[in-house]
Amino acid sequence: MTVYLVGAGPGDPDLLTLKAVNVLKKADVVLYDYLSNEKILEHAGDAELIYVGKKAGQHYKKQEEINQILIDKAKINDLVVRLKGGDPFVFGRGGEEMLALLEEGIPFEIIPGVTSAIGVPTTIGLPVTHRGVATSLTIVTGHEDPTKSEQQVKWDFKADTIVILMGVGKLEDNTRELMKYRDPQTPVCVIESGTLPEQRIITGTLEDIHTKDIKPPALVVIGRVVDVFKKVRLQ
Ligand SMILES: C[S@@+](CC[C@H](N)C(=O)[O-])C[C@H]1O[C@@H](n2cnc3c(N)ncnc32)[C@H](O)[C@@H]1O
Repeated sequence: MTVYLVGAGPGDPDLLTLKAVNVLKKADVVLYDYLSNEKILEHAGDAELIYVGKKAGQHYKKQEEINQILIDKAKINDLVVRLKGGDPFVFGRGGEEMLALLEEGIPFEIIPGVTSAIGVPTTIGLPVTHRGVATSLTIVTGHEDPTKSEQQVKWDFKADTIVILMGVGKLEDNTRELMKYRDPQTPVCVIESGTLPEQRIITGTLEDIHTKDIKPPALVVIGRVVDVFKKVRLQ
């Protein structure tokens, strides 16, 4: 019994790693979250597929229940894959699942994935760092768990580029916070359904981006690197 915590990448099935494809082919069971593209599951052949979904605002199963299914399935199967969008350790709660497996003495391996936070901007020609423009990057959640005893995100980041994941629902609140520390005219780019055929790109400023029509899954890139992308778009 081995559990593989696997990153599925941002959506385009061709952005899956070879290592991920190889374990999916051998899997007895695949536990998967909401994936931007379920075509990825075709690699799993006859494996038992268990949807334990997570989508903006909809949590189909609690994290403790997912950990338990993972443990139970690992005990009766040779190879279990836990498949998550992007990278399993970037806002994917993969770390918690790893610790739950560790506690039960279940062997595990981790296969990283292309995180949407970097892979999606890169795909459209938006470099998250750029010589002379941005030397640092913060990746932050736009939606902290409201049940946490203390909210950890303070929005006074020093990084040149900020990428907000899960940022659609509270975009107005979050940009208002950011404008306490940054110029309201700071360029912003939102990428909806990145790397997928339905991808949409919306640009604006910290001040007006919340007035635009944006649907999840989407991520928000803030900083002067957005001007670099605009040069590419003008070509
Ligand atoms: C729970 S987080 C998981 C992130 C994932 N582990 C990763 O590394 O990309 C989900 C958020 O990732 C972003 N996201 C994931 N896939 C995306 C895509 N194809 N296009 C734009 N944003 C995406 C959205 O901000 C979404 O709300």
